Parts: sequence; C-alpha cells; structure tokens
Amino acid sequence: MPNLAPAPHSPPPRLTPLEAVRLALETPWKAVNEVERLLLLPLARFGFAWAGVAWGAGWKLYGLPIIQKHRRGVLRIGARLELRSTARSNPLGPHRPVILSVRRPGAALIIGDDFGMTGGSIVAEERITIGNRVAVGANTIIADTDFHPLDPAERRLAPLNGATAPIVIEDDVFIGMQCLILKGVTLGRGCVIGAGSVVTRDVPAGMIAAGNPARVIRPVS
Ligand SMILES: CC(C)(COP(=O)(O)OP(=O)(O)OC[C@H]1O[C@@H](n2cnc3c(N)ncnc32)[C@H](O)[C@@H]1OP(=O)(O)O)[C@@H](O)C(=O)NCCC(=O)NCCS
Repeated sequence: MPNLAPAPHSPPPRLTPLEAVRLALETPWKAVNEVERLLLLPLARFGFAWAGVAWGAGWKLYGLPIIQKHRRGVLRIGARLELRSTARSNPLGPHRPVILSVRRPGAALIIGDDFGMTGGSIVAEERITIGNRVAVGANTIIADTDFHPLDPAERRLAPLNGATAPIVIEDDVFIGMQCLILKGVTLGRGCVIGAGSVVTRDVPAGMIAAGNPARVIRPVS
C-alpha cells in the first residue's frame, strides 16, 4: 500500500556563512538565481498586489510570473510558493514564465501551501483546486477549459465559449514535466503523473499514471 501520510513541513536547514560561501562557489548559478530573486522581489510583490492577490509567507519567485486575474475572479495561494520562470532557474529550462490565469468572473484558482511549479500555465475559467505540497514539473499546462466550442457554428458565434469542468489536484501530487492536465480531472492524493502525459481521466490516490491518454501503470510504492 502506498504511504499517503503527509510529510510534516520542515523548513530547509539554515546554512552557516561558511556553508553558504561553499555552496555559492560550487554551484554559482544558484547564487546568481538567489541574487536575481532578491533584486526582483519588489517587482514580484507589486505584480501580485496589482492583480489583487495577497503575498504569502516564504514565497520564492525566480523570475517574474505572469498573473492574469479577472477582477471578479479568485486567486488564492498558500505559504511557501515557489515559481521558476526563467530558463536559468531550472536545468529543464522552462520555455517561458509561469502563467497563472483566472479568466472569468466567478472563476477560481485556489492553491495550498508548499506549491512549486516551473514554467507552464494554470488556466481557470471555472475552478481549479490544488492541495498542499503539490509539485508540477517544467512546462506543464493545467486548464479547466477547452477554450473554444467544438461545433464550428458555435465557435463562430462565441469563439471563447469552450466547455469547462473543474479540476481537483489533491495533497502531495507530483506532476512530471511537459504534461497536459485537461478539464474535469481529479488527481488523487499522492499520485504521480509521468513525464509528457496527457491526463483526460481521474487518477486514483497513490497511483502512477502515464502516457497519452494517461493510464495507471502501478502504485507509487
Ligand atoms: C512516472 C515515472 C516516475 C515512472 O518511472 P518508473 O517507475 O521507473 O516507470 P516504470 O518503469 O515502472 O514504467 C512502467 C511502464 O510505464 C511506462 N511509462 C513510464 N513512464 C511513462 C511516461 N512518462 N509516458 C508513457 N509511458 C510511461 C513504461 O514505458 C513502462 O511500460 P512497459 O511496462 O510497457 O515497459 C517516470 O517515468 C517519469 O515520468 N519520470 C520523470 C518525472 C519528471 O517529469 N520529473 C521532472 C520534474 S521537473
């Protein structure tokens, strides 16, 4: 049986000054990323304030994400958010900044504590709920909408009226790089989505699913 007990939050150990210098010498790109993060902090805070999103405790933003929030939509994010939006901030080299988009009045994107994501997009036209300790690999897209109607006549009349269905991503889910999580899907607690998967159906808790369309391949443990 997979172990679904949540890992307690333990803050990363504080480095002594000597350890910090050694780390900077051994992995200089990390030191550059930290300096860039601190320099961009005022702009990052301004970007979220401008969108009407409260800044959370312990947030770390590498590069500036793109935040698009409808004034009558909801975007809420918990503590210790970590977003990597520059190519240098992750060896997988995100193609572009993270985009968090709440596109319609009444739409909601609710994200728990300890959420991490590199490049990619989350687009909510209805509702996307993400639990605690969820990790999303580079360049993954999560969208609760088809964006456009499938019927050509409808598409001409109302091009932005695509079907929507809420997405739920439960605690401790790990989504691999370059995935698509499509509308109406629930990813059960602690499940893992393999790299490059297209997820069109629910994945049960504690299972690994992969492929296009994603199918369960085995339990996590
Ligand atoms: C999901 C993952 C962790 C599973 O690894 P694993 O346990 O070694 O995989 P398994 O060897 O048990 O694979 C079982 C089957 O699923 C298939 N499979 C595994 N991952 C797959 C994927 N991403 N897409 C399609 N099929 C996949 C395997 O080919 C294998 O099929 P077979 O039995 O017919 O040979 C791994 O494949 C993966 O995607 N790793 C990348 C994680 C990632 O994206 N990290 C980046 C974070 S930024």
